[in-house]
Amino acid sequence: MAAATRTIRMAPRLAAISRPVVARGTPSLAQRAAFSVSAGRFKSQVIKETEVPVSVYNPDSKGAAAGNAGQYTLPVKPAARAVEPAPEEEEVVPLEDKVYKQMPRTLQKMSVHGKVIIITGGARGLGNHMARACAEAGAKAIAIFDANQALGDESAAELHQKTGLPVSFFKVDVRDGDAINAAVQNVVELYGAPDVLVNSAGIADSNIKAETYDSAMFRRLIDINLTGSFLMSQSVGRAMMAAGKPGSIILVASMSGSIVNYPQEQSCYNASKAGVIQLGKSLAAEWAKHNIRVNCISPGYMDTALNNVPALDAQKKIWKSLTPQARLGAVDDLNGLCVFLASDASGFMTGSNVIIDGGYTLY
Ligand SMILES: NC(=O)c1ccc[n+]([C@@H]2O[C@H](COP(=O)([O-])OP(=O)(O)OC[C@H]3O[C@@H](n4cnc5c(N)ncnc54)[C@H](O)[C@@H]3O)[C@@H](O)[C@H]2O)c1
Repeated sequence: MAAATRTIRMAPRLAAISRPVVARGTPSLAQRAAFSVSAGRFKSQVIKETEVPVSVYNPDSKGAAAGNAGQYTLPVKPAARAVEPAPEEEEVVPLEDKVYKQMPRTLQKMSVHGKVIIITGGARGLGNHMARACAEAGAKAIAIFDANQALGDESAAELHQKTGLPVSFFKVDVRDGDAINAAVQNVVELYGAPDVLVNSAGIADSNIKAETYDSAMFRRLIDINLTGSFLMSQSVGRAMMAAGKPGSIILVASMSGSIVNYPQEQSCYNASKAGVIQLGKSLAAEWAKHNIRVNCISPGYMDTALNNVPALDAQKKIWKSLTPQARLGAVDDLNGLCVFLASDASGFMTGSNVIIDGGYTLY
């Protein structure tokens, strides 16, 4: 197979170059060698420095008039490799008043100093880590609402022990409006009206085909993820309004409320989270007049117990391959965004849905 040579027109900035035109079919060894030689040549044109020589010409430095320069070399560090998710941080350090007072105004605004915060689903996972983050960012008191009695109680005791902050646990199912109202009322009596609600309680069903989805299961998931978000927001919103306090409500939705996941089929979960996002926007519009902001956090795939199911192992590889950062989110990857949305620094933000997914939804 012969390889003719002809001139190919390139983009304006590139000179016309001679390229071998390969006949259809498998290229010969010689043809392949020709390509690899040129690729190698381009590679070898990149000179990798271990030190960068620098010359600095300053008008006021000695010898500048004579064109002399200050000279030194910079060591070159190889680029950092992909960062592994942070190991679980055991220590929780509360923000002390004296430290808060020394902080610049911008950082003070980014804290939750003095705020009463209710976090649902705070017994474990993302909710638990957002509770820790709020404690570190200056919360006055934290109330964990969760259906899991043992884990919830343990988490609250641990957070109090580590920080010395007032922390309480309420065994509440987010589907139970009356229990929620009683618990929120008690939070008001204990600490004052809530400033912040973080609604992280939720469940997931996946790998269930729509045509065989059990309707009772479907209703249960919608009830926890969507009705639960509404009942919690309604009760906490009322307490904020009654106290005439501005507030921030953060609903943990999911990127599944905006995209359809692949390859697992999970129509009900996706629909529930789309509902949470639209609920958040609607409440934000309705309650702006009460100075209550409502925003959603939409995580991508996170490395939590929710996804620690052997049946998902093969799919996790696919999820990572479809994520530009090539990893699942760490359990504390929502912390910074949660504190920001809870803080006064996000005062002009309401009705937003912030996707935090390592880039998954870019493709
Ligand atoms: N893990 C992920 O990949 C991921 C991705 C996107 C969104 N999310 C959402 O983030 C939130 C937290 O997820 P996670 O991974 O931390 O899950 P998780 O299962 O580790 O924690 C959820 C918590 O919610 C509590 N809970 C469940 N049902 C409840 C109910 N009816 N009433 C009160 N509490 C209840 C559980 O006891 C648990 O403590 C969920 O809303 C989830 O849909 C998670």
